[in-house]
Amino acid sequence: MLAETKFAARPLEAPALGEPYLLTPGPLTTAYSVKQAMLRDWGSWDGDFRGMTADMRRRLLGLTGDTREEFDCVPMQGSGSFCVEAMLGSFVPKDGKVLVLANGAYGLRAAQTMQYLGRAYTLIDKGDYLPPRGDEVAAALEADPAITHVIAIHCETSSGILNPVAEIAQAVHAKGRKLLVDSMSAFGAVALDVNEIRYEAMVSSANKCIEGVPGFGFIIARKSELEAAKGRSHSLSLDVHAQWAHMNKTGQWRYTPPTHVVAAFLEALRQHEAEGGVAGRGARYTRNRDVMVAGMRDLGFETLLGDRWLSPIIVTFFNPAHANFAFDRFYDLMKDKGFIIYPGKLTAVDSFRIGCIGRMDEHVMRRVVEAAAFSLHEMGVDTAAPPAAALAERAKLAA
Ligand SMILES: Cc1ncc(COP(=O)(O)O)c(C=O)c1O
Repeated sequence: MLAETKFAARPLEAPALGEPYLLTPGPLTTAYSVKQAMLRDWGSWDGDFRGMTADMRRRLLGLTGDTREEFDCVPMQGSGSFCVEAMLGSFVPKDGKVLVLANGAYGLRAAQTMQYLGRAYTLIDKGDYLPPRGDEVAAALEADPAITHVIAIHCETSSGILNPVAEIAQAVHAKGRKLLVDSMSAFGAVALDVNEIRYEAMVSSANKCIEGVPGFGFIIARKSELEAAKGRSHSLSLDVHAQWAHMNKTGQWRYTPPTHVVAAFLEALRQHEAEGGVAGRGARYTRNRDVMVAGMRDLGFETLLGDRWLSPIIVTFFNPAHANFAFDRFYDLMKDKGFIIYPGKLTAVDSFRIGCIGRMDEHVMRRVVEAAAFSLHEMGVDTAAPPAAALAERAKLAA
């Protein structure tokens, strides 16, 4: 018999197909038709598959607003980190220097990648979640003429902050340097229009906002940068220029492509278009976030970030201070109800994350909130308020 708490609510029925929803930043919940698209085999050399690759590249370029045909799209086998490494190793000359803008795990991973590459870099590390701002980027570029490139993380998935990429791009362009963007978790739902934001190259991957399954990523870059990348890469398999040149010449990937993943991704791209492209996808995710955040705040949960910085991709909540709250138990209880949530990645305070991306809508998000309420009830937690230290940490952002 459970103790009475204010979070008592009805338990949820299992989700469709008996699969839990993945409230995670990729792999994420995909449409049935996307999974179904993988139910046949494709020859990597065959004209049908080459046509699929060409269609996919064209569709991806279409999402950037590149009407002047200044950009091209280069798919690359592997997960997102492979593509970030491919981009850095191919576009930054061996004697170049990168300013890495970090405010979380993925910015720091870009810095670590530079270390592995053995190429020069300098780091602005804003800690767990404070945004790198245009004026500090301008000052850093002014102070160090050796910097040739800047890498910015569009949505820093570790806190869910949507970094001010437009402001950063302006600063980088004004100082005559080149911008590379890791838009892994944002591209397809948050605009990165080449007519609005000046950048030389960006990366994303199949299993994020386009809602495909994992297996490859893609680099979208200015053709001038792709030309200049010849012979620069540290790696045979991650050489963006070589992949691009080979694909343009033969229509094929250089090495074994993830054929089924590409077939699924094409179906995901068709669905993305049918939903209204970047604007339509972004609107659904924004609604997912708004409904979920409002419901969680009603339960007493607090978000790490104020509304201004909340992305429509993933949201970080502080763990409740209540002595009965334990994340692992909360995770299991949420999973029992059909929802897989995500642990936090902050260093200073305990937190967890709930993703807004994937094949789900506001009705699902309402059920997520009900599931959270019932899980707290089962744990005997009667308030979701965070510890005072967490709120003090958050006050830094407002300062
Ligand atoms: C912003 C960002 N960059 C890089 C990555 C790394 O991608 P992967 O885990 O697919 O290697 C992720 C993964 O979530 C990400 O969100």
